[in-house]
Amino acid sequence: MKAVVYTRYGSPDVLRFTDVEKPAPKDNEVLVKVRAVSLNRSDWEALRGKPAYARLGGLFRPRHHILGSDIAGRVEATGRATTRFQPGDDVFADILSYMGGFAEYVCVPERALAPMPAGMSYEEAAALPQAGAIALQGIQDKGQVQAGQRVLINGAGGGSGMYAVQLAKLAGAEVTGVDNAEKLEFMRSLGADHVIDYTRADFAGNGRGYDLILDLAAHRSARTYQGSLLPGGRYLYVGGSAATLLQVLLVGPLLGRAEGKKLRLLAVRLGAQHLGPMIALCRAGTIATIIDRRYRLGEVPEALRYLGEGHAKGKLVAIVD
Ligand SMILES: NC(=O)c1ccc[n+]([C@@H]2O[C@H](COP(=O)([O-])OP(=O)(O)OC[C@H]3O[C@@H](n4cnc5c(N)ncnc54)[C@H](OP(=O)(O)O)[C@@H]3O)[C@@H](O)[C@H]2O)c1
Repeated sequence: MKAVVYTRYGSPDVLRFTDVEKPAPKDNEVLVKVRAVSLNRSDWEALRGKPAYARLGGLFRPRHHILGSDIAGRVEATGRATTRFQPGDDVFADILSYMGGFAEYVCVPERALAPMPAGMSYEEAAALPQAGAIALQGIQDKGQVQAGQRVLINGAGGGSGMYAVQLAKLAGAEVTGVDNAEKLEFMRSLGADHVIDYTRADFAGNGRGYDLILDLAAHRSARTYQGSLLPGGRYLYVGGSAATLLQVLLVGPLLGRAEGKKLRLLAVRLGAQHLGPMIALCRAGTIATIIDRRYRLGEVPEALRYLGEGHAKGKLVAIVD
């Protein structure tokens, strides 16, 4: 089968679109013929080996040689111990722990798969899992956003941000989106009340405080974030620099305690089974999935470059046929 393969960390130049052996499912696995796979910043980070957490499990060489985690496709074969799926079933999943989605076929443990929601296209289903789970848990479950609250989403023009802005607006919040200049209009189109170009202005220290900061691109000190929260506010680290992550883990629980502020890592529960409310909102048309560009499987290196260079608004999807 065809796949996009890499064996060392680097730029998209280290990726090769090549023939590899088609995998065979183990007893607990399902072989999926991939029809669409979306790109996430986690793919970019695992390609580059940066930030440091992207090297967990592969300090010098990548642990997985085929990236790609958000897949939608059709069951081709099932392992002997599987019970939930039959060949021909349409399924989707976030396989961040296993990877392998930038390929024509991938073997996935049965427990990681969910039936594809009726009425959803392959590309829509592939766009949803990781970004949808981050947004849902960041805004609703852990963010607990209420009407009238001030919410800042740092990195709001990307995949998770696209869903998070819409969910926060749906909850009745006043939303500030932060991203680069190219994405300001996009964030407004999602419903953001205020937008900030991070290359020109700093949301920290602008005199405004927030009830929730959902940080998809964390690069500042935990103390700076603490200073941007209103009393009782929450800061949730999703992704960004390893130094900020360490600070949030080590001093986050102490910082701002007196004012009831909370600084925490959002450890996202990934998996299509956690996406129920998002699926319902997408199917009802209440939340839109914006796919900026579509690519062929062989164009994944180009797509990753587009994402890494800061152009992608919403999601990028590779169609596999
Ligand atoms: N915590 C968890 O359990 C968990 C699970 C899965 C994934 N993640 C992480 O979630 C993060 C976000 O993922 P995603 O797929 O939503 O990424 P994404 O689509 O790339 O969105 C991130 C956005 O942040 C912007 N950005 C970059 N630097 C910024 C800065 N200094 N200030 C403001 N915005 C900035 C990016 O724009 P540019 O184009 O300008 O760079 C991009 O638009 C990743 O780091 C991933 O590893 C976390």
